[in-house]
Amino acid sequence: MTAGLPHAPFASSEVERREPNGVSTSLDTNGTDLVMDSSDHGARHVAIIMDGNGRWARQHHLPRVMGHQRGVEAVRRLVRAIEPLGLDCLTLYAFSSENWKRPDEEISDLMGLMRRFIKSDLPEFIANDVRLHIIGDYSAMAPDIVASLEDALARTSKGKRTLAVALNYGSQQEIARAAALAAREGEITPESISAHLDTADLPPLDLLIRTSGEVRLSNFLLWQAAYAEMWFTEVLWPEFTVAHLEQALASFAARERRFGGR
Ligand code: FPP
Repeated sequence: MTAGLPHAPFASSEVERREPNGVSTSLDTNGTDLVMDSSDHGARHVAIIMDGNGRWARQHHLPRVMGHQRGVEAVRRLVRAIEPLGLDCLTLYAFSSENWKRPDEEISDLMGLMRRFIKSDLPEFIANDVRLHIIGDYSAMAPDIVASLEDALARTSKGKRTLAVALNYGSQQEIARAAALAAREGEITPESISAHLDTADLPPLDLLIRTSGEVRLSNFLLWQAAYAEMWFTEVLWPEFTVAHLEQALASFAARERRFGGR
């Protein structure tokens, strides 16, 4: 079966590619967009630490904000690929609780991009049956952003597939909040903590990707990553394409997951 990327027509130059594990994909020869014909990879939930916007801008002698702008375009490409790639959930690390330490101008640029993204892409989320979910304490964002996020959450709540965006997110803070709530209700157990995490209603995390060559978790999904597979790439986030995500999924499909057993 071949599925098309919503609002992204097939490239005429598709070539068939078969990974060693038998996952078959079609890759356009530009390597920018990819049309896959299998969700045999078995992953339901992929999360990405989108890193390298600043370095991309520097390499291209552009202001930092241009790196973030190109980063939003990469986000859009991947959101369009959730359904054709057979994923149930894509979680993106957009703004960490530590990112408030960045210069005011950069924070303001990132917030501006966030504002525009929610407004411009909401109709497409609805059309493509994508449910928006936020992890992190987004109440700390500007009131107009909180209002448009809540509007988007309400209007996409019935969507079949989930885009989870981490905003003012820190995993240690999330775990501490969840543990406090679990303690208020009774015993603290892995299950009671999990039930109070911001990800409680998302599928278990299968694959965690980080771009730009950095190999660390940066306070992202620490609990959820307990048995997730990891995939790191040197590719800078603005240059990350659906083809790269398919490479990560093919690698995931080839791995044996034992969850501590043997
Ligand atoms: C890391 O690159 C990226 C971020 C801190 C922000 C990610 C944000 C976006 C991709 C755009 C906004 C997202 C949405 C969902 C609208 P960096 O700036 O740390 O790069 P560097 O390490 O090369 O400096």
